[in-house]
Amino acid sequence: MTVLRAQGITKVYGGVTALAHGAISVEAGSVHALLGENGAGKSTLVKVLSGAIRPDAGTLSLDGRPVSFHDTADAVRHGVAVVSQELNLFPDLDVLANLYPLREPRRGPFLNRRAMVAAARPILSRLGLEVDLRTLVGDLSLGQRQLVEIARALIAEPRVLVLDEPTSALDRSGSDRLLGILRVLREQRVGVVFVSHILEEVMQLCDTITVLRDGQAVLMGADRADLSIDDVVTAMLGPRSARSPEPVESAVPPSPDGPPGGDLRLEAVTVDGVLSDVGLRVPAGEIVGVTGLAGSGHLAVLELVAGLRRPTRGTVRLPGDRPVPRGLRRAIAAGVAVVSGDRRGRGLMLDKPLWENIGQVRAIGLRRDGVIVRRSALRARARGHVERLRIRCRDVEQRTGLLSGGNQQKVVLAKWLDASPAVLLLDDPTRGVDVGAKAEIHELIRAAAGDGAVVLLASTDLDELTTLCDRVLVFHRGKIAARLSGEELDQHAIVFISNTGGRQ
Ligand SMILES: Nc1ncnc2c1ncn2[C@@H]1O[C@H](COP(=O)(O)OP(=O)(O)OP(=O)(O)O)[C@@H](O)[C@H]1O
Ligand SMILES: [Mg+2]
Repeated sequence: MTVLRAQGITKVYGGVTALAHGAISVEAGSVHALLGENGAGKSTLVKVLSGAIRPDAGTLSLDGRPVSFHDTADAVRHGVAVVSQELNLFPDLDVLANLYPLREPRRGPFLNRRAMVAAARPILSRLGLEVDLRTLVGDLSLGQRQLVEIARALIAEPRVLVLDEPTSALDRSGSDRLLGILRVLREQRVGVVFVSHILEEVMQLCDTITVLRDGQAVLMGADRADLSIDDVVTAMLGPRSARSPEPVESAVPPSPDGPPGGDLRLEAVTVDGVLSDVGLRVPAGEIVGVTGLAGSGHLAVLELVAGLRRPTRGTVRLPGDRPVPRGLRRAIAAGVAVVSGDRRGRGLMLDKPLWENIGQVRAIGLRRDGVIVRRSALRARARGHVERLRIRCRDVEQRTGLLSGGNQQKVVLAKWLDASPAVLLLDDPTRGVDVGAKAEIHELIRAAAGDGAVVLLASTDLDELTTLCDRVLVFHRGKIAARLSGEELDQHAIVFISNTGGRQ
């Protein structure tokens, strides 16, 4: 039974067609995957379904009757709730207030705090979010904020639940819990629309698939059972001949000042309550993965090298045997790059053009050396990155905030790689990036290592860890439980040791 149907949806932004005649029908008790490359139009369709934007053309119908939503609150009143890609939470309000942004009249205007808490508790515990409801949302981690947004949608008890990359900020156990919840909702006859770049996950869960390419539906409500992951990828990228030509090697001119080379070293490093007596050495040119369950200490290693945290005991030395300066800013000046998948938290200037963002880090370095930075040169370099990473944009003058989520993440990468860092710290660098661009980004990371950078990679994507890293250090309770390389480096070993510390 079709609950919500969109037909002929078109949305044009200043000459760019984000979506042309997009369509999707959401069935009760079924999960519909909405897939496509970065910038294909997925979030645009999601925003139309959830009342966040009005389409230029096209219609929505609910239970067979035409409907139009004034805004997202109106959609919620009609039983359509959304978990948006760029989380829409109030950082200055506490968790509870965020869970009830609109006091719905049908539940009574005087919904009291105790009733709200009672309704929220079971949902939060099913999601595995254990926080005090009075915590300010701004103080939560990205993964926790994602769970708050999901909980908010679930509390509305929607008939149609639309999730735009809901697991991109979650670790494995968080994703598994969410997928479990979606399976239960499906049994309860809820219609689910699920946007994700993690194709294995989608294919396990969904019943039907719609694929968008360049704003057009190339697969519409196809039966999942008839398709392999390969079929879906081909639909997303288009036939080989239609794809953009292989990027030319010289698209980005090499920067004159390469990284200095040398090892990154941690010696007997202890951070009280977080790491105990950790030692590691990463030579220039090597890509080393760090992983573990939340709180196991692997992310603290990145924070130590970035100057965001000081060791209680022990030493951390950058290549060239230099100490880590205090604070992120100085660490950046010392050649440390920090690429995080939390692009909102890591300073893109959303109202500035692409070329300014891409050239930002390098320009700061050059200016410090007294070099006059020519804008035309920055623009030209930015164009090279746009081509190489296939950043979907009008041109490098476009405001960065107008790019799709995955394309913004590519800009974050471009900006750091452009600075030829000596140490590249990556924390889920390809979160939200589509399959094609992911391979491209992995190439760029390998190239940075090849140029002599030290690379430390934390990732919730096991595939990324095993394919990209020379070695992976598995952390357990603040210690390195295993150093895996060669034959030993496989996903099973990582999961097993993360959970057990390596004991049978
Ligand atoms: N407000 C806007 N102004 C201008 N262009 C926009 C705006 N919103 C989206 N676009 C453009 O529309 C196209 C589709 O964007 P959309 O966000 O729907 O992509 P997506 O499929 O969700 O990609 P991703 O996987 O990266 O999230 C992109 O080229 C994007 O730059
Ligand atoms: Mg999107």
